[in-house]
Amino acid sequence: MTSPVYEEGDCRHARYSGSVDQTEERVHRDVVSFVRRSKRMNDSQKGAWARHASTFVLPLPVGDVPTSVADGAHVDWDTTFGRQAPRIVEIGSGVGDSLVPMAAARPDVDFVAFEVFKPAVASTLGRIGRAGITNVRIAMVDGSRGLDRLFDDATLAEVWTFFADPWHKTRHHKRRLVTPAFGDVVASKLVPGGLWRLATDWEDYALWQRDALDSHGHLVNVHDGWAPRWEGRPITKYEQRGLTAGRATHDLTYERVR
Ligand SMILES: C[S@@+](CC[C@H](N)C(=O)[O-])C[C@H]1O[C@@H](n2cnc3c(N)ncnc32)[C@H](O)[C@@H]1O
Repeated sequence: MTSPVYEEGDCRHARYSGSVDQTEERVHRDVVSFVRRSKRMNDSQKGAWARHASTFVLPLPVGDVPTSVADGAHVDWDTTFGRQAPRIVEIGSGVGDSLVPMAAARPDVDFVAFEVFKPAVASTLGRIGRAGITNVRIAMVDGSRGLDRLFDDATLAEVWTFFADPWHKTRHHKRRLVTPAFGDVVASKLVPGGLWRLATDWEDYALWQRDALDSHGHLVNVHDGWAPRWEGRPITKYEQRGLTAGRATHDLTYERVR
């Protein structure tokens, strides 16, 4: 059985059915929120990878599958970035078309992006190189585990999950990234007053996210409902595709309290 080949930054995989999952489950014992896709890179991605991966992709010890971070893995973030600065984590940064402009706009903040799809990471590296920024590192491992394992509690200014894969089918809902249990992890990593910003173009997933988080003991829905569109977040190719298809974007912001 072969996996479908996806284009750079293509997130349609979440709408494909069974055969993709069966391929993945041969190599992943745990349920994850992403699908393994073709690692084929175009020439531009290969060039960006060759030029920038050693600087910006973290050399993480992996566990029993290549996308799992090893037990006991540790990163000294101040050493990695060569300074002490507020830190923001994005999970599922795709090709970096929102991450890189946002990092360029906030040179006083350090960004750690989790993305498992190598061609997308290579595209992000190209953007980082063109922007000439140094305040981003990329972790090519499952962000839900990586967040828990690689960061001390109460150390993150913000966590971002923008357009996480929606996993439409009921039998795939267990793959959704945003759950009450993941809310526990995010809340524990945020500093008091820290923010979790979320966005999705699928209304049922937006409602699911509110169901999961509105009653969380350590997170407060800052807007007591949908957040206004965050002006700092550029529209990505993925979001634009949803807008063109008539899907409104729902933003949410939760603050770590207590
Ligand atoms: C739908 S795309 C959205 C990309 C980007 N945030 C945007 O707005 O264009 C979701 C991305 O998240 C990545 N992803 C999903 N779950 C992940 C996880 N647990 N850890 C790391 N990356 C993940 C996928 O590989 C995919 O590239």
